[in-house]
Amino acid sequence: MLRTPLTDRFSLGLPIVGAPMAGAGGSGLAAAVSRAGGLGMIGVGAGAEPDWIGRAADEARAAAGRFGIGLMAWNLARRPEQLEAALAAGPSLVSVSFGDYRPALGPLQRAGIAVATQVGDVESARRAEGEGVDVVVARGGEGGGHGDDRVGTLPLLQGVLEAVGEETLVLAAGGIATGRGLAAVLAAGAAGAWIGTALLASVEALTPAEGRRRLLEAGELDTVSTSVFDVAQELPWPARYRGRALANAFTARWHGREEELAADPAARRALAEARQEGDYDTAFLYAGQGVGSLSSVTTARQVVEEMAADAEALLRRW
Ligand SMILES: Cc1cc2nc3c(=O)[nH]c(=O)nc-3n(C[C@H](O)[C@H](O)[C@H](O)COP(=O)(O)O)c2cc1C
Repeated sequence: MLRTPLTDRFSLGLPIVGAPMAGAGGSGLAAAVSRAGGLGMIGVGAGAEPDWIGRAADEARAAAGRFGIGLMAWNLARRPEQLEAALAAGPSLVSVSFGDYRPALGPLQRAGIAVATQVGDVESARRAEGEGVDVVVARGGEGGGHGDDRVGTLPLLQGVLEAVGEETLVLAAGGIATGRGLAAVLAAGAAGAWIGTALLASVEALTPAEGRRRLLEAGELDTVSTSVFDVAQELPWPARYRGRALANAFTARWHGREEELAADPAARRALAEARQEGDYDTAFLYAGQGVGSLSSVTTARQVVEEMAADAEALLRRW
């Protein structure tokens, strides 16, 4: 069994956190990852109501006991009720990523809830450690969904592990899709992996069938890190964070032309319609470069158990 400071701190059987994935991972996926021995996180979207958070938390607790919640820091200033709901839900871990997490840190920690944040550069990791964040996630630019895409996972992880002290839990994220990736980051000194894309084709993910088909078909070259979907939805994401998604006709047309897109209501309407219809030539499917390693629809349990078993075998090999 792979035992690390992460498994010790959260009483896990595997050093794997199921990343929060708004729209793709709700209570079902979180519970499945936790039941398999990891820590599953519920992804909270920008518009999610407090009731939704409470319900999802109740479901995950009933099914698995242990769960985490992922909030978007930039959204909490305009939706403080999301933080209130997360506090009331009693999770083991709350991730406050992409923006200023400091206002949320004290309230969460005073309630006995550990706090994680995803960082994309070494200085941000140092600051997070200094501010007392419990779990620093070194999240490289090859990762799926939103993040800081300037540095890849390995250079980032090496820099972060050198920069922060042993008492801070450092997890690695971005492109970890198989046991080889997990073995690599554990060997480097990370306490575990924070995985998103690897779970997207699992039966518990909320990905519709056509989306799942496209994810399984996609290779490592088929993603793009872009702001076009945020611009077209008029979401006020801080400029630092873009979203890595499968490239499609919409990204081919608008990536690099964001100002024009912002001034084009017809394009914004087209995206909204395509999302309704599940037309992924226009609508987004957020996924990282690890999407090339997805080959079949499995359960989340299979994904995390296989990843951990393969990593353990590799780590014993030399
Ligand atoms: C579909 C999708 C949705 C995501 N939504 C969120 C989110 O709501 N909150 C968050 O903190 N991170 C979100 N992320 C980013 C993940 O937390 C994590 O950084 C990423 O999945 C790690 O890289 P990987 O996908 O290569 O495993 C999302 C990622 C994906 C693929």
